[in-house]
Amino acid sequence: MSGIPAARRVLLGVNVDHVATLRQVRGVDYPDPVEASRVAVQAGADGITVHLREDRRHIQDHDVERIRGGLTVKLNLEIAATDEMVAIARRIRPDDVCIVPERRAELTTEGGLAVAGNERTLAPMVRALAEAGIRVSLFVDPDPQQIAASHAVGATVVELHTGRYCEVSGAAVADEIRHLVDAAEHAHGLGLVVNAGHGLTVANVAPVARLPHLYELNIGHAIVARAVLIGMTAAVREMRATIDAALAGAAAP
Ligand code: PXP
Repeated sequence: MSGIPAARRVLLGVNVDHVATLRQVRGVDYPDPVEASRVAVQAGADGITVHLREDRRHIQDHDVERIRGGLTVKLNLEIAATDEMVAIARRIRPDDVCIVPERRAELTTEGGLAVAGNERTLAPMVRALAEAGIRVSLFVDPDPQQIAASHAVGATVVELHTGRYCEVSGAAVADEIRHLVDAAEHAHGLGLVVNAGHGLTVANVAPVARLPHLYELNIGHAIVARAVLIGMTAAVREMRATIDAALAGAAAP
């Protein structure tokens, strides 16, 4: 024992949706998100995340099945709160499911899930997924009402939406980090596991990586975009190193 506390580790889930986007815009069979997942895992990803959208604009059903079949790390499947998606998840049995809001015209997931006010719809879905042995996460804004409601409907995890933090500038950045810190403390106090993600890049990830009680970050677009220029292996390693550097010396919460 050196007496020096070990640095915290935050898991990195790599979202490969936009590898599939590149394939779908041409209607061809490359690049393959399954191959990208394999490379990401070899480069240090702790998990792979895919969002099977209702409009199937990027990830397809067969991608999820193939990734599930060959993965040596955990699979996190993002879905909308619909009976169709819950049935698919129960059949494929990813390790984790993250329920996200979905609007057809949006470019990406805008804002967190409205858990408060929709408890009667969400609670049975959370239960059905949990009964299939799936750990259920809800993607929520750092808002105390949504976190309390997530706990009330039986979720095990909340993924804090970092999109607003990524969009603001100046003094508003510190405000957004404060909201995320408060939300992480609140969720942890209720016994929820705390994840975070959306819009994160090597330039903005550090303050989020240092959130108290943070278990996992899910990062997609910036890693895939960077992979176009420097390769998937280098892009995942760069993000991993940035997160680890942010945590070096940070005390465990
Ligand atoms: N977490 C959730 C719940 C998401 O919906 C997304 C986007 O699919 C991400 C993380 C990753 O966001 P980004 O692609 O901006 O890194």
